[in-house]
Amino acid sequence: MTMRTCKNLLVTGGAGFIGCNFIRLLLSPGHEFSGRIINLDALTYAGNPASLADIEARYGGNRYFFVSGDIRNPDLVQFLFKNYAIDTVVHFAAESHVDRSILGPEAFITTNVLGTFTLLEAARQYWGGDSAGTLFHHISTDEVYGSLGKQGYFTETSPYDPRSPYSASKAASDHLVMAYHHTYALPVTLSNCSNNYGPYQFPEKLIPLMILHMLSGKPLPVYGDGKNIRDWLYVEDHAHALWTIIKGGRTGEKYAIGGENEWENLTLLTTLIDLVSRKTGMDGDTLHAAITFVKDRPGHDRRYAIDCSKLKAELGWKQLVTFEEGLAKTVDWYLANPEWIQGIQSGEYQQWLNKNYDTR
Ligand code: NAD
Ligand code: DAU
Repeated sequence: MTMRTCKNLLVTGGAGFIGCNFIRLLLSPGHEFSGRIINLDALTYAGNPASLADIEARYGGNRYFFVSGDIRNPDLVQFLFKNYAIDTVVHFAAESHVDRSILGPEAFITTNVLGTFTLLEAARQYWGGDSAGTLFHHISTDEVYGSLGKQGYFTETSPYDPRSPYSASKAASDHLVMAYHHTYALPVTLSNCSNNYGPYQFPEKLIPLMILHMLSGKPLPVYGDGKNIRDWLYVEDHAHALWTIIKGGRTGEKYAIGGENEWENLTLLTTLIDLVSRKTGMDGDTLHAAITFVKDRPGHDRRYAIDCSKLKAELGWKQLVTFEEGLAKTVDWYLANPEWIQGIQSGEYQQWLNKNYDTR
């Protein structure tokens, strides 16, 4: 297997949850990556420079360059390719929350579809006929495959069947990426991952939302009957998988990434309640009593589960963090970082909670 050498990485959406964990991994002491990272992020409500403040202080202007800007801006994107001699794109930037896509789909179409198109065009133009040593890695989701029944798993060959504006926009971006490979021979790899959890996740997503609601004594809103199933992966394991694919993945291939760790939402929540109660001394019965069944998410996918045997067999990746360890680390991180939490609890965040949960 030939290993790619990546010198100048354009990471999009690096101020978001998974992007910042990926950057932190590559710039961690002893990591084999020795190049530069250019982080292009529009700093939407989900992007937070505080998540990389220590990285900026240590590597800013040397190995790490933050650019506040939009992936939908072709002039800016083309400038970055030229100015930093980009050889690798790691494309995280997206609108990522299903509930927001239901209440307002437009940004999902413009960022996830047109933004990806803008990046692909810039890569095609800048790399042109000489794409040796280049790679466009697109980060996608298992949600493009729709919903599973009680049996079966998503694999790289599962048919696309997106059911929310979010997953439809991600599916469209996946198709564009593969089309640029087939039509223009753009070197691409693509990964479809299951639900991530861990430090720096914006508290609109299930696990951090529930932790923060517990800490502030709010109701714990469970959609529908709470029996929807997700396959949870610790975010650092996702970051490792991405680096593994970027280094050694076959050009033009898709890789499914998952935790092999399925949980019904309600069971996960009761486990999380017990953990938070143990760690904080809060009364477990009071926390359990805060569970509130609310109106279901429209079109709520029932079950996701990933078969990641291709990635394991071909590239030797495996999950390193058990769910027990990962959940404990996550709760510890939210307990230890009240300033980070205060920083994102802006007016926008309160408005979101009111808009999404008041109608449920
Ligand atoms: P996130 O919402 O936490 O972060 C998204 C980042 O993209 C933010 O920093 C935001 O400012 C930036 N961004 C949004 N629009 C932009 C634009 N137009 N131009 C530049 N930057 C923009 O998302 P995340 O959870 O870190 O997800 C990252 C990627 O991984 C997404 O593509 C998502 O579809 C995919 N994914 C997420 C999960 C998950 O469980 N969170 C699982 C599988 C795949
Ligand atoms: O599967 C990968 C996807 O995982 C990613 O592509 C998305 O970017 C990411 O947001 C995530 O999507 P989900 O919709 O699965 O994640 P979310 O955390 O929003 O919800 C997880 C489950 O919990 C889902 O069944 C809905 C439920 N839920 C969620 C919230 C926020 C609740 O019951 N109550 C809530 O308040």
